[in-house]
Amino acid sequence: MELLEEQRETWGSRGGFVLAAVGSAVGLGNLWGFPYKLYSYGGGAFLIPYIVAMFCIGIPMLILEFSLGHFTQRAAPDAFRRVNKRLEFVGWWGVILGFVIITYYPTILAYCFSYMGDSLVSIFSGNPLPWAGEGIEGVENASNYFFKDYLTGGGYIGPFRGEILLMLILAWVAMYFCIFRGVNLVGKIVWLTVPLPWIMLLILAVRGLTLEGCMKGLAFYLDPDWTQLAKPTTWRFAFGQVFFSLSLAFGVMLTYASFLHRKSDINNNAAIIGIADFATSFIGGIAIFATIGGMAHITAQAGQPVPVNEVINGGPGLAFVAFPYALAQLPGAAWWSLIFFFMLVTLGIDSAFSITESVLAGIVDKTGWRRSIVLPVMSIVGIGTGLMYVTIDGLSFLGTVDGFVNGTWGIAFIGLLECVVLGWFSRLDVLRDHANERSDWHLGRWWNAAIRIVIPVVLGTLFFWSLYDNIAQFKAGEFLRNADGTCRISDCVGMGIMVVACLLAVMMSLFRSPHHKTEKQSAKLLRPESSTARSSGIFGCVIAAVALGLFIAAMTSEQAVLLYSSIALAVATLVMCHVMLERFDNDSMRPSGFARAGGILAIADISLCVLIILINLSKKVADKQTKPLEHADTLSGTSYIILGVVFVLIVLGLGWCFWKAITAAAKNEPEQLQPEEKSLG
Ligand code: PFF
Repeated sequence: MELLEEQRETWGSRGGFVLAAVGSAVGLGNLWGFPYKLYSYGGGAFLIPYIVAMFCIGIPMLILEFSLGHFTQRAAPDAFRRVNKRLEFVGWWGVILGFVIITYYPTILAYCFSYMGDSLVSIFSGNPLPWAGEGIEGVENASNYFFKDYLTGGGYIGPFRGEILLMLILAWVAMYFCIFRGVNLVGKIVWLTVPLPWIMLLILAVRGLTLEGCMKGLAFYLDPDWTQLAKPTTWRFAFGQVFFSLSLAFGVMLTYASFLHRKSDINNNAAIIGIADFATSFIGGIAIFATIGGMAHITAQAGQPVPVNEVINGGPGLAFVAFPYALAQLPGAAWWSLIFFFMLVTLGIDSAFSITESVLAGIVDKTGWRRSIVLPVMSIVGIGTGLMYVTIDGLSFLGTVDGFVNGTWGIAFIGLLECVVLGWFSRLDVLRDHANERSDWHLGRWWNAAIRIVIPVVLGTLFFWSLYDNIAQFKAGEFLRNADGTCRISDCVGMGIMVVACLLAVMMSLFRSPHHKTEKQSAKLLRPESSTARSSGIFGCVIAAVALGLFIAAMTSEQAVLLYSSIALAVATLVMCHVMLERFDNDSMRPSGFARAGGILAIADISLCVLIILINLSKKVADKQTKPLEHADTLSGTSYIILGVVFVLIVLGLGWCFWKAITAAAKNEPEQLQPEEKSLG
């Protein structure tokens, strides 16, 4: 099998790539998604599903995206095309949804720029911050300032809020200058945009931890509520958060890896990125909760108590209401606020431009057009589409579109599709060998089973679960509708965007590019012509169909035994089909398409069965009333242990990765000088 070798720009250094990927992963989601989910779903107990999700799904999927991008040296659409011509739309779908994200992500950067401006004005004028206020009224002040004065106050240019529009353009200009010269420059810029927010986060964490009352805040963050572990929703949110946080499914990591030097490591980089992302989220949570604990103490002493749970919030509410309010209570408020919003800008900008790069590389790889032409056009289209978020209903549009992109037909479906397609239609062994050959440590065959069986079943269950929620909403008359039955415009816009994204993905993949002259050769890159084991495959399909029949019978008759029989049959089929692919998928043979169809049917069946079991479990757990957790003024012994264990895990994890990297570098030193290999086997 010949690897198509061609001149492609590369990252200046391994560090540049790792930091760029960390920069993409570490974003606003780490600061307003992770801590809030941790607090809402069991405090310290949430770390168990999160760590399981990170190591069992997040890092293996990251390795998958890295290996495909690095192997094909192509952005997502073209990379999928090289697995199979008909699969190009999968790549486009992810990339186009990524484009939807960068129509609204810069709006949040625009808000941060405005708040930075407010902080600067306050520093120079000596006036208090415009949202500052005392006690619980101060919280209202902060909320009114954001939602009324800032988002929907005066200063309109036509239907657009002038200040936000200006800041939006500024955000795009900043992104443009970060990526216009290609990944080599990106690899240098991230040496600033990644460590800077880390430093500021550490400063904020130290500041928070030196405030009186910080332990009360940390108790809210870390005191474990173990009963939450019995709730499947806790697990569902942990898996969703890991997926979003690692920037999976939108082709970003795949594209970044396509610019990686041919000899560069894959597996160890993925582990470093996963652990660094987790560490940032965890420390971000400490900074937030310690500061809010300090705020609770100050307001209680002033006789106007504002408890931690009154202000703690997720999403924009945390970044633009709760935290600014908490900071406004501290001495030197304007400076802290400036540091916080500058940190948000540096945190978000590399996530934003990573998506821009993925869309840009997708278009450039497909059309062969020049970056210098595509990027300005893309930026103008991005600003143009982003205009909808700077109108009076902008934030509501933003929330809805974000919900759709991260919902059933967005991240949930694309993630599942990607995993199924690569697990069952590409030669995983080739990708695994490719990753192993250049990595500091090696993946075993367990990785094939994880990608082909475990992850699709988990993602399949999550997808069907989201779908089930949507159907329930639809039945309750809430889907796309307001309480009074009228059409909810922002939902309809979000839905429209999702449909257009899907159609556009198919259209883009049908459009034949002159740039694809090597396509015949490359499409077959991963597959030999003839196929084998047809009858076993057909047998697998029949058993999977029987399992699905049993599932339907279990649904109509409500017999648990039918449900469990269905799972047992489907598991047997899945294992059989997996073994067939493991044994017969090589340079001279390929297993019949029936083996793949049988495996995929079995995944669908198991996911549906597991979903029914989890829904029943959820109902049972919801029936049992659990007492809300009482938080003491200081951390409990268990919380200290959790804190210690997490730090040890992070230090040991990163230490192990760096040690592997150093020992491998010492061993490979002479090898690096050899000419690049061209063949994969
Ligand atoms: N991982 C980023 C965060 O946690 O904020 C968000 C993100 C970036 C999602 C890039 C998806 C993506 F492609």
